[in-house]
Amino acid sequence: MAEKPWGGRFREETLKIVEAFTASIGFDKRMYRQDIAGSIAHAKMLSAVGVITPEESETLQSGLKKVLSAIEAGEVEFTEALEDIHMNVEKRLTDMVGAVGGKLHTGRSRNDQVALDLRLYLADEIPVVLDLLRGLCEVFATRGKTDAEKLLPGYTHLQRAQPVTFGHHWLAYYEMFSRDMERMVETLRRTKRSPLGAGALAGTPYPLDREMVASEVGFDAVMRNSLDAVSDRDFALELLFNGSVIMTHLSRLSEELVLWSSQEYGFIRLSDGFCTGSSIMPQKKNPDVPELLRGKVGRVHGNMIALLTTLKSLPLAYNKDMQEDKEPVFDTLDTIKGSLAITIEMVRSLSLNPERARAALDAGFVNATDLADYLAKKGLPFREAHEVVGKAVAYCEDRGIALEGLTLEELKGFSKIIEADIFEVLPVEASVAARKAIGGPAPENVKREADMALERLESLWPRRG
Ligand code: ARG
Repeated sequence: MAEKPWGGRFREETLKIVEAFTASIGFDKRMYRQDIAGSIAHAKMLSAVGVITPEESETLQSGLKKVLSAIEAGEVEFTEALEDIHMNVEKRLTDMVGAVGGKLHTGRSRNDQVALDLRLYLADEIPVVLDLLRGLCEVFATRGKTDAEKLLPGYTHLQRAQPVTFGHHWLAYYEMFSRDMERMVETLRRTKRSPLGAGALAGTPYPLDREMVASEVGFDAVMRNSLDAVSDRDFALELLFNGSVIMTHLSRLSEELVLWSSQEYGFIRLSDGFCTGSSIMPQKKNPDVPELLRGKVGRVHGNMIALLTTLKSLPLAYNKDMQEDKEPVFDTLDTIKGSLAITIEMVRSLSLNPERARAALDAGFVNATDLADYLAKKGLPFREAHEVVGKAVAYCEDRGIALEGLTLEELKGFSKIIEADIFEVLPVEASVAARKAIGGPAPENVKREADMALERLESLWPRRG
């Protein structure tokens, strides 16, 4: 074998700066385990269909296992001269087992090999992300139940709107992250299809058993077109999109935690372990973790745009451009795993400040809609009821009191149909308790939904290990 596996037709050496520019070993070495697993499956299959002898296959397989141990023991020094993980592994194998190592690449190209490796890598990593998403959903469902009665002003336009509860708010996030789980499960299903056997682009003339390789690596199916198998990276795009949605969800949560833990709101306290101080202002406790989570959205969204742009307009089949697929994927995986892990602990450990939330509720006319609904139920058209309550709010605002601070006489001054039973409607507890259609914030609802949410997780993504 020439110094480079593809060196046969070359008369001059590759320039060093070209080697450095075109090499991917610096980042694709992460896929060494997947690369070796794919090669072992390929070697097994080659002898099963009679392309190599069982002895040759045995030599290749045991050699590959030794390469794996050597890499894990830190004994293998990867080199840019060998470009990528595929050629680094193959060279090491050949050094170990001799010329028979050169038979491993029969009926295979790096083009189908790299597509398989990346799919295998995602098939290993997506379950880890799913475990974390599940863990976060568990925290939201658990807090949903314990905080089901803890009142909280709900906002629209960041203006106090109607009363809800912390529990109800947590379950909103449960819903978002459980949909993120659904998306990841779907992506995993499409990822687990084997491209091996597509060769460089046009298949191979050997009687390969592609289905055998697929099942050897734990995949469910083979890709049905050799050009597509080596060309598309839509499974990676899906991962990048799913990751982007996860980060968008995390950023909205983070923004709320930053606001709620500020002195202006004071609804929650983040535990000290999640905050840092200021080197100059001794009183400061800064919510660095949710801020950084919010900030990390940028790179994850950027990774998605990066790969979409790289793939745009590429002619079939493989082009070297596609080597740019890996770093965005690795960075997104690292970022979402780290972000989810820290969010689980942060949400679990934060404590509520129900008095501050209560004070905001009492000052916010958040029961104005309840008064309007009361009038509408007594027959007043809702638009008129809205007008009546608007006047009552303005009257209260001038006097610095709440709607429930008005006497029955004062209330009757706005509408004669108001009776003493209005005082059962106006408390925020009553407002929340009355909203018990599916999806509403009534504590009994929220507790029931929280139980169902916990149960639902098992069918979304069963607990492993
Ligand atoms: N390092 C390459 C990549 O990551 C592997 C495939 C190379 N194929 C080729 N024909 N140059 O995409």
